[in-house]
Amino acid sequence: MKEEKGHIFSIFDEVIPQKEKESLLQQKSMVLWFTGLSGSGKTSIAKWLERKLQEEGVLCAFLDGDNIRTGLSNNLGFSLEDRLENIRRIAEVAKLFNSNGLITIATFVSPTFKMRNLAKEIIGEDFHEVFINTPLEICEERDVKGLYKKARSGEIANFTGITSPFEEPETPFIEIRTENKEIEECGLEIFKAIKDKIKLK
Ligand code: ADX
Repeated sequence: MKEEKGHIFSIFDEVIPQKEKESLLQQKSMVLWFTGLSGSGKTSIAKWLERKLQEEGVLCAFLDGDNIRTGLSNNLGFSLEDRLENIRRIAEVAKLFNSNGLITIATFVSPTFKMRNLAKEIIGEDFHEVFINTPLEICEERDVKGLYKKARSGEIANFTGITSPFEEPETPFIEIRTENKEIEECGLEIFKAIKDKIKLK
């Protein structure tokens, strides 16, 4: 401990650095930023992956529309401006989880380069883009939440892929083409791509 101008500096003044948190958890933190159309399978694949990582002894944090758009971003809509603010907030939260040693899985449409670049800028080198590539026709055919139908009829405005843009990532960390694949197969592809990067043991 050193004393300076009456203040005692000690280890208690420091926020515990990311590296120390990581060594406690025996894992290397990273942010897996899932992007893709509504209904592309992002959340299902991400949930499978989170479970797999949990079974492997890796601690994750999970961020998706269910826990963000109903809470932290409940005052935002789907204009490009609101989406950008949504992504900014999520990226800030992901950065905090990341600095606490967790593997953070964030699944958001995040449809434009500008939004994902912002997330990357906020999070830094631990940002990893995971592109869940499912053709629009398939998402629309599945239409799990009935939103594509509403978008086509004009009941919902600014719907991604229909009346609002989706800019496909050009150089993602990993791209998963989901067509004719089970959720598990897609999740396993991601697991294999990250497993050597995240385990310190
Ligand atoms: S983002 O563009 O800001 O990243 P986010 O991932 O939070 O979007 O929310 C997308 C989810 O909200 C979709 O999966 C869908 O269920 C729902 N949703 C409601 N309105 C829209 C819309 N206009 N465009 C896209 N998704 C919408």
